[in-house]
Amino acid sequence: MSEKYKNLINGQWREPAGGKYSENRNPADNNDLIGLYPSSSKEEVEEAIKAAKIAYEKWRLVPAPKRGDVLKLVGDLMNEKKDEIAFEMTREMGKVFAETKGDVQEGIDTAYYAASEGRRLFGHTAPSELPNKLNLSFRTPIGVGGFITPWNFPMAIPTWKLFPALVCGNTCVFKPAELTPKTAHTLVEIIDKAMREVLGKDYIPGVINLLHGKGSVVGEVLIASPDVDLISFTGSTSVGKRISEVAGSSLKRVSLELGGKNAQIVMDDANQELALEAVLWGAFGTTGQRCTATSRLILHKNIHDEFMKKLIDRAKKLRLGYGNNKGVDVGPVVSEDQRNSVHGYVKIGKDEDKATLALGGEFATEGDLNKGWFYKPTIFTNVNRNMRIAREEIFGPVLSVIKTESLEEAIDILNDTKYGLSSSIFTQDVNSAFKAVRDIKAGITYINGATIGAEAHMPFGGVKETGNGHREGGWTVYDFYTEWKAVYIDYSGKLQRAQIDNY
Ligand code: UN1
Repeated sequence: MSEKYKNLINGQWREPAGGKYSENRNPADNNDLIGLYPSSSKEEVEEAIKAAKIAYEKWRLVPAPKRGDVLKLVGDLMNEKKDEIAFEMTREMGKVFAETKGDVQEGIDTAYYAASEGRRLFGHTAPSELPNKLNLSFRTPIGVGGFITPWNFPMAIPTWKLFPALVCGNTCVFKPAELTPKTAHTLVEIIDKAMREVLGKDYIPGVINLLHGKGSVVGEVLIASPDVDLISFTGSTSVGKRISEVAGSSLKRVSLELGGKNAQIVMDDANQELALEAVLWGAFGTTGQRCTATSRLILHKNIHDEFMKKLIDRAKKLRLGYGNNKGVDVGPVVSEDQRNSVHGYVKIGKDEDKATLALGGEFATEGDLNKGWFYKPTIFTNVNRNMRIAREEIFGPVLSVIKTESLEEAIDILNDTKYGLSSSIFTQDVNSAFKAVRDIKAGITYINGATIGAEAHMPFGGVKETGNGHREGGWTVYDFYTEWKAVYIDYSGKLQRAQIDNY
C-alpha cells in the first residue's frame, strides 16, 4: 500500500473530504509509485482561505524579527535534510541529483535572506513641508496570499514566494504542481514544524495551508476568492493571462513569472570552449525544462560550422538515465504529456519549419530508459527567426540554432520574441558585452555565462509576456508582499494645512 498524503488546513493534516487521491509516479521509472495525493474540493480550499484570513490578524502582529526566526529555523531544517529532499525530488520530477541539491540550496538561501529581512524591512522617512511635523512610511503586510507553483523547481520557486510573504506578515494558501506534491509536502511540514517550535504556545494555526489538487479546482477558487488579497504564480503564459483576468477583476495584486524563449549569442571572438560548456548546460540541464533554459543558440557565421561540429559531438555523449544514479547527465522529461508536447514541436521543426534535424528528435528507449519518459537531446540547425521552433516555448531538450552575421543582428534576433526572461552573450570584447547589456530586452543577461543559474538574492523575472513587471528574489520581492503606509506626525500643537498655510 503506498503512502497517502494529506492537506494542511488550519494547522491540521487532513485527509481529503471526498476521499479522492491521485497518483504520483517517478518519470524515470513508471513502476515506481511515490505516493497518493489528495484531490481537494472547492469547499476545502474555501476553508483554508478562511483559516488564513483569521490567522492573518494574529500573524501580522508577531514582530517581524520573530517571523524571521521562523524562517531561520526553516533554513536550518532544510539544510539538515538537503540530500534526502533532493533524492526524493529527483525521484519525483526527474532532474539529476546535483541539480535537485541546487534547487534545495536555492530554498535555503531564500530562507536565510528572508530571516534576515525580518530585521530590515526598511521604510523611508522624509521631511515635512511644515514645521514641527514628521513624515515616515513603512511596510505593512497585505493579507492572504494564494500561491500556485510549477514542477520544474519544486522547492526553490515555492520558497521564493512563501518565505518573503511570511516574513512580511502575510498568510498563505499554497497549491503546488500536481507533478511534485511530495517536495511541497516536505516544505510545508518543515515550515509548520518551525512555526510550532519558534512560537510555542503562541502557535497560530492557518498561517500556512497546503492544498493538493487540480488547478481547475484549487487554483480557480484561489484566484476568484474575495478573501485572497494577492496571487503569485509561476507557469505558462496562457495560464498567467487567465489568472490575470480573473484575479484582476477583484483588483488583487498579482505576480506572474511566465514563459521564456531564451537565447545564447556566441560571437566569433568568444572563448569557444566556455561557450560550448554553457550551451550544453543551458539547453540540456534540467532536460531543458527551465523557464531560463537556452532554447536558441545565435551563432556567428565565422565560427558556425566548427562550433556546431563540436557541439553535436558533445551533446551525443550526454548520458541519459535516472537522475539519482551516478554519472547521469540528463534525466527524463517530467511526464508523458510533456514528452508528447516536446515531440510535437520536433515534428513542427521538421515538417512545418523545414529546419535541419542535426541530433536527436526521438524518444530514448534503450534498456532501462524504456521505463520512463526519456527524450534524446535534440538540435535543429538552419533555423531562422520566423520558424515556430525559434519563437514558441518548447520546455524540453530542444535547441534551435540560428546563424548571424553581426552583433547588431544577433541582438535583434534575440529580441525578436514575445518573451524576455534570460539571455546570454559570449564575447571577449568589452564593447560588444556592454552594448548587449544595454540593448537586450530581457530581465536577466549573462556575460560569458549560460542563461540558467540565477542567484536567490538577485531580482528574478522578465519583460514582455514573461511577466507583469514584478520580480522575485532578493530585495525586490519585498515590494510585492507589502503595502506602503504613509504616516504624518504633527507635534506643533495646532492644525497645519499642507499646501495652504506654508505657501
Ligand atoms: C525557472 O526555470 O523557472 O536561474 C527557475 C535559474 C534557476 C531558477 C530557474 N536558479 O535557472
